[in-house]
Amino acid sequence: MKVPFIDLQAQYATIKDGIQLAINEVLASQDFILGKQVAELEINIAHYCGIKRAIGVASGTDALLLSMMALDIKQGDEVITTPYTFFATVGSIVRLGAVPVFVDIDPKTFNIDNIRIEEKITPRTRAIIPVHLFGQMADMGTIMELAKKYNIAIIEDAAQAIGATYNGLAAGSMGDLGILSFYPSKNLGAYGDAGMVLTNNEELAEKVSILRVHGSKTKYYHTVVGINSRLDTLQAAILLVKLKHLDVWKQRRQEIALLYDQDLLDTPVICPNVSEQNDHVYTHYVIRTKERDALKSYLTEAGIGTAIYYPLPMHRQACFGYLNYRDTRMPEAERASKETLAIPLYPAMTEEQRKYVVENIKKFFYLHPELQ
Ligand SMILES: Cc1ncc(COP(=O)(O)O)c(C=O)c1O
Repeated sequence: MKVPFIDLQAQYATIKDGIQLAINEVLASQDFILGKQVAELEINIAHYCGIKRAIGVASGTDALLLSMMALDIKQGDEVITTPYTFFATVGSIVRLGAVPVFVDIDPKTFNIDNIRIEEKITPRTRAIIPVHLFGQMADMGTIMELAKKYNIAIIEDAAQAIGATYNGLAAGSMGDLGILSFYPSKNLGAYGDAGMVLTNNEELAEKVSILRVHGSKTKYYHTVVGINSRLDTLQAAILLVKLKHLDVWKQRRQEIALLYDQDLLDTPVICPNVSEQNDHVYTHYVIRTKERDALKSYLTEAGIGTAIYYPLPMHRQACFGYLNYRDTRMPEAERASKETLAIPLYPAMTEEQRKYVVENIKKFFYLHPELQ
């Protein structure tokens, strides 16, 4: 049997008619840039996330960049974040000339360790970017308290977490700004690049809307220097169709995760730990074991796709070498990068496929009793 890590074709088969209708409508209108579907998606996503304003942009990466531009984060400012994230979180800080300041992660959730944030705050700290990794929100309670106490902006990186909640509040709705990614492999994925900025602050929303079109509110008149980062009408039309299914898909992801939790209980792997305030959406189901690399090879041999998020933490990336963080110890992020493995989990996955994954994880440890 084959179990791909993600099966977008299986998902497409279930929504094909709706998608084709939506694409045909855009083709008929020939209105490809910021068409009516973009405005409609912005309203629907804002409603889904319980937030006043949502601004469609070209990618999650641009959403981060534009959020920081709207906050006027610039050369020499410090932005606190996690070293255990996708590159874009940190890359966008550095692209503005600001300095990323890393706080190690909580080994249970893989999210930024809220207890260690305060010691990294300085007079230059302008923002904190908590990342809601794998679909579970960071401990926003403490983070929001720190933001208030030190007057620091919060940008939630909810690229992997649309639909997740913390004490009932949606991912991306708690900070000054939140960002979403609709990269195809996300739990709400477009058919290309797409992203969104979320905010309750009208002034910031206005700034982001202007910055995404070269800094102009009136065409050809530029009040600030922005970028070209518009959400494509075709992608918005596709996302409008897929958004209708998101809650059912979320429920299915949670069911599969629960079954994995139960079935893997008697194996040496550690399953995702969900803190009680959180509703986890399982964009990725990530297990941890010291035998990660051997297990990955074994599963590959058995026809099971897996992924490593992420093999090298950000403070050790060559491109950030000039920041001299490579000798800095972030022990939990480093350990996680050697021990975590994302296994297949997607709504279209069959029970037979899920059982096959479990069976093979069990077989691996049975064949290697010395690793138990
Ligand atoms: C945590 C995180 N932040 C930011 C991004 C960037 O999003 P995009 O790929 O849409 O630019 C991603 C997704 O790839 C991500 O996983």
